[in-house]
Amino acid sequence: MTSQPDTGDVPLAQLADDEVPRVRTALPGPRSAEVWARDAVHHAGNSSPAAQWLQLAISDAAGALVRDVDGNVFVDFSSGAVVANLGHSPPGVAAALGAEAERLLHYFDFATPARPAFFEALAATLPPELQTFQMYSTGSEAVEAALRLAKSFTGRYEVISFHHAWHGRTIGSMALMGGFPLKHGYGPFPAGVHHSPSAYCYRCAFGLDRDTCGVACARFVDRVHEQSTEQQLAAVIVEPVQGVGGVIPQPPEFLAHLRELCDRTGALLIFDEILTGMGRTGTMWAFEQSGVVPDVLLAGKGLASGYPISLIASRREVLDAGRFGRPGAGASTFASGNLACAAGAATLALLEDGTVLEHARRVGAAMLAGLRDLQARHPLVGDVRGRGMLFGLELVRDRATKERIAPETARRLLFALARRGILTAGAGPVLRLSPPLVLSETLAAKGVGLLDDALSEVEAEAT
Ligand SMILES: Cc1ncc(COP(=O)(O)O)c(C=O)c1O
Repeated sequence: MTSQPDTGDVPLAQLADDEVPRVRTALPGPRSAEVWARDAVHHAGNSSPAAQWLQLAISDAAGALVRDVDGNVFVDFSSGAVVANLGHSPPGVAAALGAEAERLLHYFDFATPARPAFFEALAATLPPELQTFQMYSTGSEAVEAALRLAKSFTGRYEVISFHHAWHGRTIGSMALMGGFPLKHGYGPFPAGVHHSPSAYCYRCAFGLDRDTCGVACARFVDRVHEQSTEQQLAAVIVEPVQGVGGVIPQPPEFLAHLRELCDRTGALLIFDEILTGMGRTGTMWAFEQSGVVPDVLLAGKGLASGYPISLIASRREVLDAGRFGRPGAGASTFASGNLACAAGAATLALLEDGTVLEHARRVGAAMLAGLRDLQARHPLVGDVRGRGMLFGLELVRDRATKERIAPETARRLLFALARRGILTAGAGPVLRLSPPLVLSETLAAKGVGLLDDALSEVEAEAT
């Protein structure tokens, strides 16, 4: 390694797959360190662990490549925070934003021509049950709105959510969250939330085996409903693939059982697809693979390639019902602005003909096979899970006991990967990989090879 960056002026889009990644400085490099030192004077300092640990200052990004201010070029195996699904600065999105911004930056939630255009493109991706939308800016805000909506529609107040669930950082969404230490200390949370085990087959809450369990975790939800609630169930909220909780796909039978419970009780079935939507799991929406259609769908993250936007989708009679349907109940200062809609429409246009999804399924399948091969060779890798371009490698100290790795091991792996030019933005006992859907086959294979090296390095240190 030299301290001489050499990619500063080359447009990232011009770098060929065999020229990247390239990391030419120690990490963080001197210019990144300078930015972080200056930033630290005023910035609160409670950013995500990966950002805090790596302390890279980002200069620019295109496609699957991200460059820091020292000229190091990384392959992004996270799509930022699972946002750059179509790659960084995908074609047409910045131009759409620019053209719109020239005309109008913001006028509350008044309609603009951009909004119906976005809605029509979105509606084309969704079934008849999910054709009416309300927009917000962040995922947590959409989750909060869904809670209000469910209470308003049903006149009830209880919600069932799941262990290992992640729904955001507001108090209401944290109440729904599984047992993340991040929520500790902020209680008491709103009453009426009941948690049930999700289908986490690698660590089954009932100690059962997937082949013979009969999806006991799904049947247990009925018991939670019978024994823990006051029969005031307004909603069941679930991620079809639990993302931040460790990339834990929920089997179709599990989701179908929740559908039955909601049909029986009149509660709304809410699928939080903020992380899994927009092609992430190989289909436009993860629920398509289960055959189960929710009453309410939540989307965010990749919806507008980085412009902050989230939304709830449902039936008109659900969105219009009760207090939630009254004027003003759905408004929020920055929701449904023309910039969000323009960026959303330009993003959806890139997915429209199915080519990107087809590519993601093909490259994703090859990557999953490569990752399973790593599991066969690396004792640190206890389990590998994946759908489309979303993968989780569950890292363990001991395969027999399934004891989780220490946070320090996760930190070492993050650095071992970054030094090799693979950037991941999550850093926990499950290594979450979510590269852009447009990642080339060559870079996917290269990345898996570099992960192989990084795992060897960490394993050698661990012994
Ligand atoms: C499934 C899910 N729901 C909600 C959220 C919250 O979204 P935001 O961070 O935009 O508030 C996230 C964020 O990671 C998420 O993964």
